[in-house]
Amino acid sequence: MTRDMITVLDTTLRDGEQSAGINLNRQDKVDIARMLEQLKVDVIEAGFAASSESDFEAIKAVAREIKDSTVCSLSRAVERDIDLTAEAVRGARSGRIHIVLSTSPVHMRYKLQQAPEAVLEQGVHAVKHARRYSDDIEFSCEDASRSESEFLARIVEAIIAAGVTTVSLPDTVGYAMPPEYGSLIGRLIAQVPNSDKATFSAHCHNDLQVECTINGIGERAGNASLEEIVMAIRTRHDHLEVRTGLETRYLVPASRLVSERTGFVVQPNKAIVGRNAFAHESGIHQDGMLKNPLTYQIMAPETVGGQDYQLVLGKHSGRAGYRARMERLGVRFSSEDALSEAFRRFKKLCDQKLHLDDKDLLATAKKEEEPHVA
Ligand code: KIV
Ligand code: ZN
Repeated sequence: MTRDMITVLDTTLRDGEQSAGINLNRQDKVDIARMLEQLKVDVIEAGFAASSESDFEAIKAVAREIKDSTVCSLSRAVERDIDLTAEAVRGARSGRIHIVLSTSPVHMRYKLQQAPEAVLEQGVHAVKHARRYSDDIEFSCEDASRSESEFLARIVEAIIAAGVTTVSLPDTVGYAMPPEYGSLIGRLIAQVPNSDKATFSAHCHNDLQVECTINGIGERAGNASLEEIVMAIRTRHDHLEVRTGLETRYLVPASRLVSERTGFVVQPNKAIVGRNAFAHESGIHQDGMLKNPLTYQIMAPETVGGQDYQLVLGKHSGRAGYRARMERLGVRFSSEDALSEAFRRFKKLCDQKLHLDDKDLLATAKKEEEPHVA
């Protein structure tokens, strides 16, 4: 069984920050970058150096601070951007320049207003310019999923020949169906003669490198979420046959930090990092969980840095969950009948109140049993 190593590029600080309504200052970026480094993210995309003076300074600060991850900045395919990007990541132990240039007919015609040949030439020129500063150059063919495959193959071959080390093929507008996107990348790797000289990167999906953000934040509807990809790879390694080098116990702390600094609340039902990801309310689930957590959890909360699973008592809960929770509160019932009586009162209360706190629960035991604090 081959186990290819997946490189993880986290773009929380660049694409994530492009979410409408998010603005991170230099300190926020440094703090989040430190957390990403602890998480052992391979590449941290810290921002877009030419977009503002403050982002330039923030990237510089991240580059100075981070030792174990590569620090990267996005750059348009123009010399001025590339010069600023190179300057911003210069202090990094390992720095990357990430060039982006559109390759789809609709982008080339209306946004760039350039013929495909001119775009190809511009891309190659930009790569050669960037190579004066760094050996680590990523090139994103923006809107790759809507690009013509023949042109895409030509430009990818040309930029690799000019010195690109990572080729990213973003599904910029969330248009591609997953199998279609997979075959686009597979076809390019097979067709482009020098494809073995570069890492192919998926912006949304996982190939030899994945680009993603903490909590899935990002432009428009967001990006692929780092925690979901990393845990899918870890949990289903039997199926995916790849792995990452990430310290997954920092996933929940990273999620909390990004949520706090961006002001973007994580939905309770968000996989891996949501408040309810390891909470069980239904009687059937609680009964199973009490017998063995593997019945209803495919990963242990500790592996992602979360707290132990919770049995939330509500109207869907059963006797086993109720009894277990009451025992945790120090209440032991003298008989099965006493438990049944208290359980009936509990169910009645659930119809009257949405959230039951410990006081409410203790009250359900009152008639039959004085709470006995263990
Ligand atoms: O989605 C995209 O195309 C991007 C590029 C700017 C790299 O984020
Ligand atoms: Zn993007």
